[in-house]
Amino acid sequence: MGREVFTVNISSAIFDCSAPDLDSCPDESLPEFAFIGRSNVGKSSLLNMLAGRDGLARTSPTPGFTKLINIFTMNKTWRLVDLPGYGFAAGAKKDSARFNHAVSHYLKERTNLCLVFALIDSGLEPQEIDLEFVEWLVRNAVPFVLVFTKTDKVATAAVQANIASFTAHITGWFEQLPAIFTCSATTGQGRPELLGVIDEAMTAIEAESKQAAASPEDSSGSGRKARENRKKRPDLSRPW
Ligand code: GTP
Ligand code: MG
Repeated sequence: MGREVFTVNISSAIFDCSAPDLDSCPDESLPEFAFIGRSNVGKSSLLNMLAGRDGLARTSPTPGFTKLINIFTMNKTWRLVDLPGYGFAAGAKKDSARFNHAVSHYLKERTNLCLVFALIDSGLEPQEIDLEFVEWLVRNAVPFVLVFTKTDKVATAAVQANIASFTAHITGWFEQLPAIFTCSATTGQGRPELLGVIDEAMTAIEAESKQAAASPEDSSGSGRKARENRKKRPDLSRPW
């Protein structure tokens, strides 16, 4: 039997706050895992599926539903962050066709952001806007895995063909492709794998903070050094 995956048992899942911008987000004390993707791709539904709590994040068949940075704390130790989607222009707001300023600010600046789940609809051939967004993540060095959603609605062969096609478009941007997962919020497919990713990340963070505490160089009491360390995103030697 392998190591116990502590995240699979989510004993508490609490709504923290809805933040309109980065400055309104809570302190950076807990590691965060964020969901991003086109409006309606299933971000809020996947968050609920992973948390094991229907209705924790609000979902809707209407695209552009999540409009704020919604933050939830799991097991009092890490957070899931539901972000507004991109690709949906409501009324005359042309800017919302691209993901909004608050989201890009959060993704670029949030120092406790460990990993982004970049969601793609498994039923669609590669969409320009998703490719552009993945390129933006790469350019801004945001750590992410790809998650192809709604697999219950699509034949397995079509899911595989769409993933292969998406991968072919982006492969030149990486030395090593990011990990790719599939999921369905309806059937729960992909839940153990995605919680496993969070578990791996949490384990790496714990190991890193133990190492930092044990290192004489880091406990030198230098205020500047401590500040730099806090500002640095967790250095995960990522298996994905
Ligand atoms: P925005 O907040 O508008 O950006 O959307 P979102 O990405 O948060 O999508 P949301 O989770 O609200 O889901 C959009 C619609 O897709 C809802 O009607 C969900 O019930 C449906 N949906 C989400 N995930 C799945 C899935 O895995 N399978 C199926 N069949 N439907 C899904
Ligand atoms: Mg949503």
